[in-house]
Amino acid sequence: MLSSKVSTALNKQIQLEASSSQYYLAMASWAETQGLNGISAFLFGHADEERMHMLKLLKFVNERGGHGVVPALKQPPVTFKSVKSVFEEVLKHEMKVTEEINGLVEITLKEKDYTTHNFLQWYVSEQIEEEALARQIVDKLKLIGDDKGGLYFFDRDLETMAAAEVAAEKGPKGK
Ligand code: FEO
Repeated sequence: MLSSKVSTALNKQIQLEASSSQYYLAMASWAETQGLNGISAFLFGHADEERMHMLKLLKFVNERGGHGVVPALKQPPVTFKSVKSVFEEVLKHEMKVTEEINGLVEITLKEKDYTTHNFLQWYVSEQIEEEALARQIVDKLKLIGDDKGGLYFFDRDLETMAAAEVAAEKGPKGK
């Protein structure tokens, strides 16, 4: 059974994962209107992943005798300055998520809730991957600078990456 402290903290995380999904969805939609199909496919995929993160938490809370609350939707930004600024925002956002996950882990230790502590390890590893990927993309975009040709190839790279993610999810293991 979850303590009320852990339950409240997990529900706060559900809200953050849901808003991450909305945020990336807004970025994906903007990128699609700019003709950046690869970038948009990648971001649509990322939005789906965040929804999965949210669902996983919600189901865990319910399984442990709590109540996973579906949060209200907040309007994310509609337009973005540039592709580089989009991915800088992704990185900043993921760093914030990592901080929150670490805070959650700390709460579970204080509450001696080792089951939730164990469950959260998946999120700890996931955040390492997500931050590393966002950082790698931001570095690439720094190299590209204002080069339109570079952006074209970058868009194609992300299209390939998005397709590979979809294929991996359809594979025997999935996520
Ligand atoms: Fe679910 Fe990207 O953190």
